[in-house]
Amino acid sequence: MQDLSQFQDPRFARMYERMTARADPATTDLRIRLLAGLRGRVLEVGAGNGLNFPHYPAGVTEVVAVEPEHLLRAAAERAAATAPVPVVVVPGHAGSLPFDADSFDAVVLSLVLCSVPDQRVTLAEVRRVLRSGGELRFFEHVRSPSPVRGLLQDLITPLWRRLAGGCRPNRETAAAIEAGGLVVEEHQRFVHHLPGSPRLTHILGRARNPA
Ligand SMILES: C[S@@+](CC[C@H](N)C(=O)[O-])C[C@H]1O[C@@H](n2cnc3c(N)ncnc32)[C@H](O)[C@@H]1O
Repeated sequence: MQDLSQFQDPRFARMYERMTARADPATTDLRIRLLAGLRGRVLEVGAGNGLNFPHYPAGVTEVVAVEPEHLLRAAAERAAATAPVPVVVVPGHAGSLPFDADSFDAVVLSLVLCSVPDQRVTLAEVRRVLRSGGELRFFEHVRSPSPVRGLLQDLITPLWRRLAGGCRPNRETAAAIEAGGLVVEEHQRFVHHLPGSPRLTHILGRARNPA
């Protein structure tokens, strides 16, 4: 059994559940695009309260959803019960995924690479569990391309991390995905506003684990 104590943050978990309780058609549309066309056995890392679950397409045979935070994992288990495809929720964290190598056809990361302690370690784990030729789907907020906004994000990061479950708003996540050896095949960059959060640059796309 992994030690998940460092990932427990009940204050953030309750806040995230409140922030995401209201209907948010724009983010729902992005989640649908994130998951469109996925097939086979899919791993979702840092699934939170399971907001992606309703949007997995019928070609997905099983979703294994890893979530380290106890309250969010309990909410994900409730969401799994009504998902349109089979979803199994398990405890674990991105730095040491509790799965064999090559065991998934696809991996989904949504709004999680901002929060993991080490993106390089997480992406190495993603590559390990993803079969050759398998796909990473990502939807993340990233550092602003504006130098001034990027600097402001650097300045606010220490406080933001404390208030937002370890989230760092100033990460260059697209570059980290490529540096991790995944080949980015499609990548859109846009400004988006999550409820309860300021407008931030986001990326949405797909990358492949090379053979
Ligand atoms: C902003 S929430 C996003 C939740 C969900 N992916 C979504 O799209 O709504 C960030 C999530 O990442 C999880 N998380 C943080 N660090 C993690 C880690 N090292 N491994 C896996 N999940 C992690 C948090 O517990 C939380 O559920």
